[in-house]
Amino acid sequence: MNCTIKEAKKTLINNRRLNYTLPTNTKLYPAQWNWDSAFIALGYSNFNLNYSFKELETLISGQWDDGMIPHILFHIKDLNYTPNYKAWNCGKKVSSSGITQPPILVSILRIIFERQKFSKKEIKKFQPLILKIKRYLEWFIRYRDPKRTGLISILHPWESGYDNSPLWDKSMSKIKIESNLSYKRKDNKIVEKSQRPLKIDYDRYVTIKNHLKEMNYDPKKLYFKSKFNVVDVGFNSLFLKALKDMDFLLRCIDKTNSSIKKYILLNESKLIKLFDSKKMTFKNKDIRNNSSIVIPSITNFFMLFADLNNNSINKSLIKSLKRYDKNNKYLFPSINSKHKSFEEKRYWRGPVWVNCNWILYQGLKNKDKKFAETIRKKTLNLVEKKKFREYYSCRSGLGMGAKNFSWTAALYLDLKLNSY
Ligand code: GLC
Repeated sequence: MNCTIKEAKKTLINNRRLNYTLPTNTKLYPAQWNWDSAFIALGYSNFNLNYSFKELETLISGQWDDGMIPHILFHIKDLNYTPNYKAWNCGKKVSSSGITQPPILVSILRIIFERQKFSKKEIKKFQPLILKIKRYLEWFIRYRDPKRTGLISILHPWESGYDNSPLWDKSMSKIKIESNLSYKRKDNKIVEKSQRPLKIDYDRYVTIKNHLKEMNYDPKKLYFKSKFNVVDVGFNSLFLKALKDMDFLLRCIDKTNSSIKKYILLNESKLIKLFDSKKMTFKNKDIRNNSSIVIPSITNFFMLFADLNNNSINKSLIKSLKRYDKNNKYLFPSINSKHKSFEEKRYWRGPVWVNCNWILYQGLKNKDKKFAETIRKKTLNLVEKKKFREYYSCRSGLGMGAKNFSWTAALYLDLKLNSY
């Protein structure tokens, strides 16, 4: 067996705790994260299906009464993370954060079922799980687009999963840091400071979080009151794909849902309007400050994953992705390296992330097989050379952030063992 495949499996197993998996085995992220767990479940499906479903079931066990699945579940009362479970002070059966993350678990569940060639009867056994996830998607529609504009908002940069992306710079610069702010960061003692978000970013993250907490995380209020309210195209692309995959899963269990079907059409039509055909890119919207955000972020291409029913946009996106960053050896930098906000080593401001490459590969494999295959091979080469790091330099391939990073190992396995 290829030794990297063996190591990838070992990495996941070593990071596994009781029925869920840490993002890494170091002290950096001592809990269960929402979209990490979805990627991890996909990795397991390549060698231990039982672990895949356990991972997802444990994640869903943290669902709130209103339907939200939080971005972090603190199964163990560990204080080695900022903000820790006490600082969030919420959660139902499991202590959790009070915000969410991209609902990519829906799309991953569909991939697992399809790969396993599950019959309708076998899928029906998962009906309770599918219906719980459906409630999660309905929660987004109800509370993150209360005016039914067709676009879903995120209320904290952490909800995107790309925490300190330059996408948020303008909106974040408007946030007045709370006086008497008190918290102790640990992340920048574990990973080199130059690879982590700045102090000013953290001050603002904690300020927004404290404000959400003051409102008791009441979903009815947060959309209107949060200090941060952004429609991000990357997030909406993952959401649109999740809706389409939920529609598919519901059909498998002989159910349909008209509100999900309606929202697919509405969301898709509104997203199309955010496309600038001259610049061949999407613009994002700052709802709180009523302005547009145009940043050359790799996440704007997540729309390829959503299988937009618009060939001309899909073609433009592929053309533009091919030109996105030709200068660098390793693809894809999270921000185009020619842009002024690009930073080679700082977290989501430039480095290559394997989950982004995986999302783009999935989006391209039914649209441009050759390009998809290039992405697959280059991603595998990078990981084989530099091991399972959290992120990498697009220039030198240098591995950065956490070591033994679970989603890198999981998605490496998935790309390695499933070419199309
Ligand atoms: C960071 C990342 C986020 C990830 C988490 C755990 O916060 O930005 O995407 O889910 O770490 O790996």
